Amino acid sequence: MTSAGHLANLGQGFGSEGVWLSCVWLSDGCRAEREAVRLVRGEGCAVTDVVAESPVSRLQVVDLRTVEAAELDDLWQHEVRLWRERLLWDVSDACAARRRVVDRHGLPGKAVRLGARTVAYAYYIIARRLGVIGGLVGSPDWSSTGVGRALLQETVDEIRQKGVSRIESPFVSIDCPWLTRFFEREGFRTFWREFLRLELRQSPGPVSPLSMGHLEPWRGTHLREAAPIMQAAYEGEVDAEINELYRTLDGCGVVLESTLSQGGCGIPVVEASAMARHWGRGIGFAVVTEIAPRQGHLAQVAVLPEYQRRGVGRRLLSYSLSRLAELHFDTFSLIVSRYNHRALWMYRDMGFQSVLSFPVFVWER
Ligand SMILES: CC(C)(COP(=O)(O)OP(=O)(O)OC[C@H]1O[C@@H](n2cnc3c(N)ncnc32)[C@H](O)[C@@H]1OP(=O)(O)O)[C@@H](O)C(=O)NCCC(=O)NCCS
Repeated sequence: MTSAGHLANLGQGFGSEGVWLSCVWLSDGCRAEREAVRLVRGEGCAVTDVVAESPVSRLQVVDLRTVEAAELDDLWQHEVRLWRERLLWDVSDACAARRRVVDRHGLPGKAVRLGARTVAYAYYIIARRLGVIGGLVGSPDWSSTGVGRALLQETVDEIRQKGVSRIESPFVSIDCPWLTRFFEREGFRTFWREFLRLELRQSPGPVSPLSMGHLEPWRGTHLREAAPIMQAAYEGEVDAEINELYRTLDGCGVVLESTLSQGGCGIPVVEASAMARHWGRGIGFAVVTEIAPRQGHLAQVAVLPEYQRRGVGRRLLSYSLSRLAELHFDTFSLIVSRYNHRALWMYRDMGFQSVLSFPVFVWER
C-alpha cells in the first residue's frame, strides 16, 4: 500500500507506498546535450567525478536550504503535470506544502544549479536512525546527463554522514531507468512496486455478505482498531521489509493517522471505506482516499492473519468499488508490491491493470 506516513508533514504521500514522493524526469536528452556546451560556473561543490561521462562538467550541487522556493517553480509544475498525466493524481497541494517548507529554508536535501538555474532537487528526512529519501525531481532538459545520479550521490552521502543505520527510498519514480543501477551500486536492495488502476465504468452490483461477521461503514473511531490489524497483517510480509513503520503498532498508527487525518494520501472517502467485524471484533479494514476529483485510491487494506483466505479482503474491496461507483468516481487505483502475490492476484482478478512499475530501495548498515 501507499506508505504515506512520516513524510506527510512535508505534503507528500508515499505510496503506500508513500506518497507523495516522486522522482520525475522527462526525456529530452538532445536539448540537454546542446545546452551542456554553455556551462556556467557557480558556487557549491563541483561534481565532475560523479558525472565524468557526462558533458555536464560544471554543475554545482548545493544545500537545498540555500535555495529559494521560486527557483523550483518550474520543477513543481513539471511534477504536478506528470503525476496528473500518468497517474491521474493531483499532487498540487502536496507540492504547495513542500514549497512552503522550502520557502522557510527548512527542507533537508540537495539541489543542482547550473548557473542561475536550478535544474533538479532531492529531499530527505531523518528520524532517529532512519533516513527517508522523499523525492527527486529534475528538469526534463537534463534527464540523461548524469545530473540525477550526481544529485542522489550527494544526497545519499549526506544522509549516511548523519549516522543512520537504515535508508529507505520509497518514492514513486517515473521515467528514471537509471535509478536501480545507482542504488544497487550503493548497496541498496531493490523492491518493485506496481501502480494499478481500474476504470469504474459501471456499478459492480451488490456486495455479497461476509460468510462470517459483517462490514460496517468507516467511522473515525475505527482508526484505533485498524492499527493492530495492520501490524498483524503485514508481519513477515515484504511491505514490512520496505517500510519500517509497518513493523510496529506505533508505526502503523502513524501511517493510518497520516492517511486519514493529515491528507497524506489524498482526501479520505469514508463512504467507500469500511471495517469488517466478527463477534464485535475488528478483523479487517479498507481505507479509500480521493487523489484527484473522482479518482479513488485504496490507501490501505488489511485482514487479520487468522481471518485471511476467507473472502474478507475481496468483500472489502467489492464494497469500496461499488460505493465509489455509486458516488460516480471514474477510477480506483492502488499501489502494491510485486512480491505480494496474494494481494496482486486478488487485484488482477478483480480487473485492476498495471499503469506503472517502479522500484523502491532499502539500505541497511
Ligand atoms: C491482501 C489481503 C487483504 C487479502 O485478504 P484476504 O481476506 O485473505 O483475501 P480473500 O480471502 O478475500 O482472498 C482474495 C483472493 O486472494 C487470493 N488469495 C488469498 N489468499 C491467498 C493465498 N494465501 N495464496 C494465494 N492466493 C490467495 C485468492 O485469489 C482469493 O480469491 P478467492 O479465494 O475468492 O478465489 C490479506 O492477505 C492481507 O491483509 N495481507 C497483508 C496486508 C496486505 O498485503 N495488504 C495489501 C497491500 S497492497
